[in-house]
Amino acid sequence: MRSLAYAQIMKTKPGIPRRALAALGVALAVALPAFTATALSQADRSLPQGRSENLPEDRLAELVELCEGCHGPGGVSTREDVPSLAGRPADELFAEIERFYFYERICPDVPVDEKDAAGGHMSMCNVTNRMTREEGKALSSYFEAQDG
Ligand code: HEC
Repeated sequence: MRSLAYAQIMKTKPGIPRRALAALGVALAVALPAFTATALSQADRSLPQGRSENLPEDRLAELVELCEGCHGPGGVSTREDVPSLAGRPADELFAEIERFYFYERICPDVPVDEKDAAGGHMSMCNVTNRMTREEGKALSSYFEAQDG
């Protein structure tokens, strides 16, 4: 008697309604491309693209001067609180620039002029936050080409 009632319940137990399945399908169709787009943009993300592919010489020189103020002439550092950049692979340098840009790396504030702490401080996040991808790449190649 008992088992008969059980069998009856099983027979009448509703399966997953078609409508619910359709709704799930729609939800996946909407969510998957959005998810994929996010994943792709994460993989793709970098510094913002500049207006032109070719960085003007004087713009590069201006930036190099800023870098060398802390990283030393040719990116050979004479400061304990600042690493050398000279002769290091451009890809590695650019990857670090991106990490500062996305605040994935701590940016210590250091004096711009080692000997004059009152002369203003700056961090690598300040240095990179308005940098374009072209500038970052050009600087990385520039310092790779210097003798370390
Ligand atoms: C105010 C000083 C200052 C200026 C200007 C500056 N940097 Fe830096 N930079 C630092 C300091 C300090 C660090 C190390 C931060 C830390 O301790 O993690 C650093 C780290 C880096 C690193 C990572 C190196 C490593 O060993 O991980 C790169 C790449 C870099 N700077 C590139 C540049 C470039 C390119 C410029 C010019 C556009 C520049 N920096 C201008 C102070 C400066």
